[in-house]
Amino acid sequence: MLLQIVQYGDKTLHQIGEPVTEFDGKLKKLFDDMVETMFKAEGIGLAAQQVGLAMQFCVVDLTGIDPDFEYRLDGAAPPLEFFMPMGICNPKLEYLGAEKEEAEEGCLSFPDVRGDVERPEWIRCEYQDIQGNPHVIECNGLLGRCIQHEVDHLNGVLFTDRMRKRTLKRIQMQINQLKAKTLQRTKR
Ligand code: NI
Repeated sequence: MLLQIVQYGDKTLHQIGEPVTEFDGKLKKLFDDMVETMFKAEGIGLAAQQVGLAMQFCVVDLTGIDPDFEYRLDGAAPPLEFFMPMGICNPKLEYLGAEKEEAEEGCLSFPDVRGDVERPEWIRCEYQDIQGNPHVIECNGLLGRCIQHEVDHLNGVLFTDRMRKRTLKRIQMQINQLKAKTLQRTKR
């Protein structure tokens, strides 16, 4: 079932997610619905906050994308198709090393808004899958960036919060208008 993606201005986007404690059929249904919604919107990640739920849960899929990144999942390197789309519950993020990289990002809650964000290059993320099994992924590049962007959502942090002032200045008007539109819509 397609879910509605909330846009900037919606208060859920600023809420810290509650931990996932029930790894049941309801979570599997939410996973399926969020994956369907992400694919339809042509995104590579979607957080629960973006469908109006403040939870420590997001989905990520980078299959079919030129894999210009490295990863180790539980110490191995299975093909992406073996573990994606990923359902990531209760992630704990660590940065590996001091290297940072700036790249352009978008967000499904900010239609047509893009801007550069600087982030650590290598991460280590402990999480549980939708059955509750623990995993560790270490990665860089687009996968590392995507996971960082989604985990930020789960903590109420948006990519605009991490932009440099001059980047933000360039898109400020666009996001102000988006916020005003969202507020107007949710008032009705
Ligand atoms: Ni986003």
